[in-house]
Amino acid sequence: MKNINIPNDNETISVNGVQFAHRDIYVVVDDFYTRIQLDPVLQIPFQSVGDWPEHIQKLTHFWWTRFGGKPYLFNHYDPVTKHFFAGFNRELLERWLSIFHDTLRSHLNPSQAELWKLISERMGDALSMKNELFRREYEQQNTGADSRTSKNSNS
Ligand code: HEM
Repeated sequence: MKNINIPNDNETISVNGVQFAHRDIYVVVDDFYTRIQLDPVLQIPFQSVGDWPEHIQKLTHFWWTRFGGKPYLFNHYDPVTKHFFAGFNRELLERWLSIFHDTLRSHLNPSQAELWKLISERMGDALSMKNELFRREYEQQNTGADSRTSKNSNS
């Protein structure tokens, strides 16, 4: 481990009857973001990450708590805004998921890999939907003032 404090890394959590050790989650997340940093396309949006060990710790905690594990870090995430401004779109998501699924298969047994794959696909769909809603609101707010002004001036 690279100077990362993962407490109770032998602790396990059961998701739909499939066991994950905290350490399994860390190993996947750590390798995944190593692959992301080497990917010619995804390394670009991820340039916003200044502290990789901190990001890996945060994302290990994210998955651990999403799987039902007890929180041990400050537990607030703002993925929709962050992803929107990182340029999140369907094409980047497909690439992200493909690298993620390869990473799962490299480290986990088939039941763990299949379950986590399914969960990540669902999260990806939810993020995509929220990203589109955020985009609409953002575009309305940023064009709304102009269109209101021009409507009023025409009436
Ligand atoms: C199922 C797919 C994904 C999941 C579950 C996921 C999850 C997350 C979470 C939980 C965070 C931390 C958010 C926070 O600090 O509040 C994060 C950060 C980030 N994600 Fe994703 N992500 C996904 C896909 C993507 C994709 C496709 C991109 C490509 C643009 C992306 C780019 C980023 C970046 C750049 C950050 C760091 C933002 C920052 O702190 O500067 N993610 N992601």
